[in-house]
Amino acid sequence: MTAEITDLATRAEQVVAGVVNSATRANGDPLTIAAAEGAYVTDLDGKRYLDYHAAFGAILLGHHDPVVDEAVIEAIRTEPDLTGWGTSTLEVRLAEAVVDVVPSIDRMVTVTTGSEAVAYAVRIARAHTGRTLLVKVQGGFHGWSDAVARNVISPPDRAYGMDPLSAGILPEALEATLIAEYNDLESLRTLFDEHPDQIAGVIVEPIPHNVGALLPAQGYLEGLRELTAARGSVLIFDEVITGFRHALGGFQQIAGVSPDLTTFGKAMGNGYAVSGVGGSAEVMREAEPAQGGQVAIMGTFNGNSVACAAGLATLGYLSSHPEFYERTHALGARVRTGLQGVFDDAGVAARIQGFGGTFTTYFIPGEAHGYRDLLANDSAASRAFHRAMIDRGFLMLPIPMKRMHVSGAFTEADVDRTVDAAANAVAELVAQGALPRR
Ligand SMILES: Cc1ncc(COP(=O)(O)O)c(C=O)c1O
Repeated sequence: MTAEITDLATRAEQVVAGVVNSATRANGDPLTIAAAEGAYVTDLDGKRYLDYHAAFGAILLGHHDPVVDEAVIEAIRTEPDLTGWGTSTLEVRLAEAVVDVVPSIDRMVTVTTGSEAVAYAVRIARAHTGRTLLVKVQGGFHGWSDAVARNVISPPDRAYGMDPLSAGILPEALEATLIAEYNDLESLRTLFDEHPDQIAGVIVEPIPHNVGALLPAQGYLEGLRELTAARGSVLIFDEVITGFRHALGGFQQIAGVSPDLTTFGKAMGNGYAVSGVGGSAEVMREAEPAQGGQVAIMGTFNGNSVACAAGLATLGYLSSHPEFYERTHALGARVRTGLQGVFDDAGVAARIQGFGGTFTTYFIPGEAHGYRDLLANDSAASRAFHRAMIDRGFLMLPIPMKRMHVSGAFTEADVDRTVDAAANAVAELVAQGALPRR
């Protein structure tokens, strides 16, 4: 490491609690990304990386996309910075744009982060049903708020049991959330039977991308819809990752399933902080004082000009470039096929799963359908593979099960270079005995 990086690390240790401002950003070398442009980021040492991390998926079109940057600059020049008064043209236009492309959303509110969107969705679900319990699946991540802060990448001994994400949460808040298994309707049905008329809502990422990419089995999302409706519960699709990324109308558009509430964020502003929660007029009424709703939505920065301009520009670009999805999905398929070929040729027990422009490398023998299959994942192999790819100039989060993202700035040549580098990395790791064999 250069003196500049060592110095920054030392300074951070003294004033930034935990060195980084979000727990999963602490991944060792490189410590600091100093520049980002298109498909690439550059660290403080000047080393370039093809960016598959994409800020946990917040970068969709590419870094510093000119359309989004220009819209933000224009908003800074021409819009009020922040007034904390009434509503603004950009806020209304952004809500119109979202309502226009996501069929299940009649009304929405704009907030800053996905965690806030989820916290509001949970409150709305509780207010709507007058019930207290919430269900999430093992492996699902929905941000830091108390109700959902449990059971994400749980070790085998804590999976399905109590596995809090943090200290400092009231046990009652965690215990009011029950854990089901993804792709297993029976596990949800059992919870409904055990807690009749008590479950306010079921929250699920339509593809649980926080543990890679488990794909919904035929009929699973439809089954969730039917079961929640039959039991009087609110169905919340957390599309903070999938929203706008896999299709303009979110994964719900692809699946043809309409949840009652949807949360979204990340890719919505292509790197600028804008998120939201929306849903049917009937359920969103809980957040409308004029309709008797009593869920208060508050936030000094909600709907600020920069956030709304970024959201509008991103959605505007995607609406006017439908080929974006075809292109990024084809690149995603190309990298998935290429990497699977590398592992198969090397006799490694690895499985590439993904959707659209995303993919994950699981070190398991067969396909993963639910979290139970992921308990067999070889975490050390996951870390070693991503670390070897980082060393070769491909930024991949060295945390087991983490997904990669292809942004709109990627090219076929980028993908082909990735597959070549992976072949080299895998050969080296196999020689070291670091990867599981078939
Ligand atoms: C599915 C999902 N929901 C909610 C969140 C929380 O979003 P934020 O980090 O913007 O608070 C995340 C963040 O990774 C997420 O992946």
